[in-house]
Amino acid sequence: MREHVSDPYVQRAKALGYRSRAAFKLLELAAKERLLAAGQTVVDLGAAPGSWSQVAARMVGPSGRVIAVDLLEIAPLENVRVVRGDFTAAETLAALERAVGPGGADLVLSDMAPNISGVSATDQVRGIHLAELAVAFAQRQLKPDGVLVVKVFQGAGFPELLAHLRKAFASVASRKPGASRGRSSELYLVARRPRVPNTG
Ligand SMILES: C[S@@+](CC[C@H](N)C(=O)[O-])C[C@H]1O[C@@H](n2cnc3c(N)ncnc32)[C@H](O)[C@@H]1O
Repeated sequence: MREHVSDPYVQRAKALGYRSRAAFKLLELAAKERLLAAGQTVVDLGAAPGSWSQVAARMVGPSGRVIAVDLLEIAPLENVRVVRGDFTAAETLAALERAVGPGGADLVLSDMAPNISGVSATDQVRGIHLAELAVAFAQRQLKPDGVLVVKVFQGAGFPELLAHLRKAFASVASRKPGASRGRSSELYLVARRPRVPNTG
């Protein structure tokens, strides 16, 4: 708790009106990787409380759109369409795919993290599973020159996920933004150009 209160990212998030310090991870990734531009369609997986969607909505502007999904409620945000549900459930996926529509997405973001059970092996498996589902969704929904940013936790299953991503996308880079806590095993993989876009 003390770490949270004295965290400079928490204080900056408050000052700038972001719902969470996580905003600074996406701001850094977006600047370094040139990820967000006016007019884009962005899908934000695991979006609550909504700071990545705030960043994305500001950067895509009124000519773009952001579609956000989470198990938890996300208070309304301008230019963000919220789909509430479990991303692993068929009906949520179908609702998301309808919201994206036939034009596809320019950018799929996944900051999903499983509810921590406390059993680290179980949490690791769940985290990898969510990342795998995000990869499959991005392969189906991204435009040919689209980009996926997916949070992953290093540990069991990570090398296999990375190998799969390298086969599925033309380029893959791993990034650890400054706002990502050093002791956390989380990384963000930035994958560009799905090799088999818009198919299962
Ligand atoms: C680290 S938080 C995301 C923070 C967010 N990027 C932000 O900037 O506000 C991870 C989110 O993933 C969501 N999540 C985990 N499993 C999910 C699932 N199966 N379907 C939808 N959302 C899920 C959690 O509810 C949680 O809100």
